[in-house]
Amino acid sequence: MKPTIKILNTIFILIIATYSQAYGEGLIHHDTANHDKKNTELNADGSSLASLSPELRALLSKEMVAIEQGMMAIIPAYVSGSWSEIEQIAQQIKNSYILKQSLTDHQLHELHSSLPEGFIKQDQHFHYLSGMLEHAASNKKAELVGFYFSKISESCLSCHSQYATHRFPALTPNNKATEHLH
Ligand code: HEC
Repeated sequence: MKPTIKILNTIFILIIATYSQAYGEGLIHHDTANHDKKNTELNADGSSLASLSPELRALLSKEMVAIEQGMMAIIPAYVSGSWSEIEQIAQQIKNSYILKQSLTDHQLHELHSSLPEGFIKQDQHFHYLSGMLEHAASNKKAELVGFYFSKISESCLSCHSQYATHRFPALTPNNKATEHLH
């Protein structure tokens, strides 16, 4: 099985596994920020992610589910050449950026200081790729759309392998499931 197909399978499984999610509004409040967690590191085993405030984790989960629904919707659009639909979805994914959405400048600053730099870098790269997907779709470049979809999938897996192994134990480093990533 090709790596890309494997990744797609993983995503489909994730989609099914997390399809029904609770949604909440206004989850982040000033007083729940992680003042005392400035040096919090998310370990490879993800254990310290549990120390993020429940509000922040809820927001992260909410974004993840939305992103995954977007990724899921891209498949039928891709195979039918609905480029404008992909463009729209990619834009939504790009704009769902957890470090931007729903947060005041103050909260943004607090979030930046409570997440490790590596996580923020991964998130930025992910949103860069979403922008590239949007661009490829707006230019109706089928091959590039496929390429960036695959790159995005890799970036989901890459971040999860580093920061979400508590949620996805199969992605624990050295596990066979991540062997094809470079
Ligand atoms: C920058 C890091 C990062 C990227 C990129 C990322 N994720 Fe996640 N994701 C996480 C973390 C961390 C968690 C675990 C959150 C928690 O503690 O429950 C997670 C959890 C999830 C969950 C479980 C949500 C829940 O609460 O049930 C899904 C589904 C998910 N991600 C899908 C995706 C998909 C699909 C992509 C790519 C299109 C993606 N993620 C990209 C970091 C990331």
